[in-house]
Amino acid sequence: SPTIVAAVERLMRRVEDFPAAGVQFCDLTPVLADPDGFAAVVDGLVGSHEVGSVDYVAGLDARGFLLAGAVAVRLHTGVLAIRKAGKLPPPVHSRSYELEYGAATLELPADGLDLRGKRVLVVDDVLATGGTLGAAVGLLDDCGAVVAGLSVVLEVPGLGGRDRLADTPLTCLTVA
Ligand code: PRP
Repeated sequence: SPTIVAAVERLMRRVEDFPAAGVQFCDLTPVLADPDGFAAVVDGLVGSHEVGSVDYVAGLDARGFLLAGAVAVRLHTGVLAIRKAGKLPPPVHSRSYELEYGAATLELPADGLDLRGKRVLVVDDVLATGGTLGAAVGLLDDCGAVVAGLSVVLEVPGLGGRDRLADTPLTCLTVA
């Protein structure tokens, strides 16, 4: 909605040459630190999902955690943290993915949580290459879950993220 876009545009901090030369980093800290900005973002991430249409909301390590809890309360679901490797005790489900330099791994507990047939909404702050969200989709698939949707605050266009995630309903509130 125009309100969400305006809030994000007004408050987002753009930093040149971070984390590498030629890259513009979009810092959403001031958006989430603003009460109206945070409320607008959470509304947008809930989007067309309704109470009863989703079983869990999952947030991606680390900034997705801030968003997932708030969205989960709105949808009256529990919340899941999809962690970077090395944080969870075994057994875990894990999926590795490519970064610009090197690789990373996302994990979910393989015990104490039965996601088979459960509908999961995945939320994160930024979609760039889609590597992170793609790994999350794969991980949830390994757990037998159904990905009900992907919702992000900011899409960085031109990096192929949207194409990489073409099989799953995707909501991006703003474009960088
Ligand atoms: C950032 C961002 C997304 C991801 C998007 O997280 O929060 O999770 O990158 O990039 P991609 O679409 O190219 O995968 P980062 O990996 O920096 O981790 P952090 O949130 O722990 O800082």
